[in-house]
Amino acid sequence: MKLMQFFSSSFLLLCFALISVNGDLITDTCNKISDPKVDVKFCIEKLEADPSSRGAKDLRELLGSSIKLIKPRITEVSSVITKLTSDPKFNKPALEVCTELFNDAANGADEAYNSSVKADYDSVLTYLSALDTDADTCKQGFEDLGVPYPQPLVDPTNYFYGITNIALSIADMLK
Ligand SMILES: *[C@@H]1O[C@H](CO)[C@@H](O)[C@H](O)[C@H]1NC(C)=O
Repeated sequence: MKLMQFFSSSFLLLCFALISVNGDLITDTCNKISDPKVDVKFCIEKLEADPSSRGAKDLRELLGSSIKLIKPRITEVSSVITKLTSDPKFNKPALEVCTELFNDAANGADEAYNSSVKADYDSVLTYLSALDTDADTCKQGFEDLGVPYPQPLVDPTNYFYGITNIALSIADMLK
């Protein structure tokens, strides 16, 4: 019985040790990010909530897992865009341009991930910067028309920017 207790408490200790090691990687990395667009608390919260990021053993793995978090953000923005397209309140041509841009972005996120697997960090940075530019261009389309960026897109787009810039900052650290 004693032995059993010893093993189970050792196991628990080991679990805590593993959790704290990985927790430190995320916390240390997020604290090191100097991009004013990345909120440290947001960074820690989002990466800690992701099992792959939590399990990342080093910065390289954390880059891969953070890039993987971008696609769902793009999918969310795209699905909101699709919904707004049938609402006459919003400018349809501008939304259609955004659909194209976020389709490109989805492809770019795949390219960025593939480049990260090859440890080609310059390409990762190029692809990730292009994602930001796609989102900027989408917003610009509304600005050019003198209308505000559709309110339902604001939060999903900011979430997308936040995650993308976390990955950008990590790629920058690895370069
Ligand atoms: C990324 O790599 C996978 C696996 O090698 C490949 O199937 C996919 O086409 C690549 N994607 C892009 C966008 O290059």
